[in-house]
Amino acid sequence: MTTGTFITLEGGEGAGKTTLLLHITSWLIQRQIKFITTREPGGTRLAEQVRNILLHQQELPVTPQAELLLMFAARAQNLAETIRPALAAGRVVLCDRFTDASFAYQGGGRKLGSAMVAQLEAVVHPDLQPDLTLLLDLPAATGMARKHADQPDRIESEQAAFFQRVRDAYLQRAAEAPGRIKIINAEQTEKKVASSAIEHIEKLFKSK
Ligand code: TMP
Repeated sequence: MTTGTFITLEGGEGAGKTTLLLHITSWLIQRQIKFITTREPGGTRLAEQVRNILLHQQELPVTPQAELLLMFAARAQNLAETIRPALAAGRVVLCDRFTDASFAYQGGGRKLGSAMVAQLEAVVHPDLQPDLTLLLDLPAATGMARKHADQPDRIESEQAAFFQRVRDAYLQRAAEAPGRIKIINAEQTEKKVASSAIEHIEKLFKSK
């Protein structure tokens, strides 16, 4: 591999991204493949501060548009500081959420629509898309029941209809980019979810 490989994980709340990430990283370690992991919003000092503002400072009013712009501000920084340098160094970059999450949560959940998100995508990373996106899909209600956080963050505190729109927008994205976005049924066992994800990754490596 001369240039790196960009893999993103997506899905609604409680879909099991964190667990899957562990399976993928141990698979990469076993094969001595060099990788980094990052997350969005987050992944750099600035972007982690944006994350804290957006998710945990619930007393701060944030408009849907401001939320979208801050997601992309964090993303611009993460791209510059973390993602692009690692790809340039030939690494695998595993990113826990990326721009598809903005289409799903701000475009769908917050009803801003996909055109506005696409405009920002065209500004922030016109030249870069993930090589592979693993979308962990499950019914919104199942995800929320799995999550049942004691202290939900600002987005987790949203209503069921919001998460239904998030799921619908993710599935719409997957229908528009079937080559890149692979839907994995997140209601399967942890083992099955992991093996299906790894299959997609192996296929990607073979095609490169
Ligand atoms: P998580 O990484 O623990 O799932 O939390 C991130 C939260 O931020 C999650 O609720 C989804 C949300 N989010 C957006 O709303 N838009 C985005 O562009 C990204 C990256 C995340």
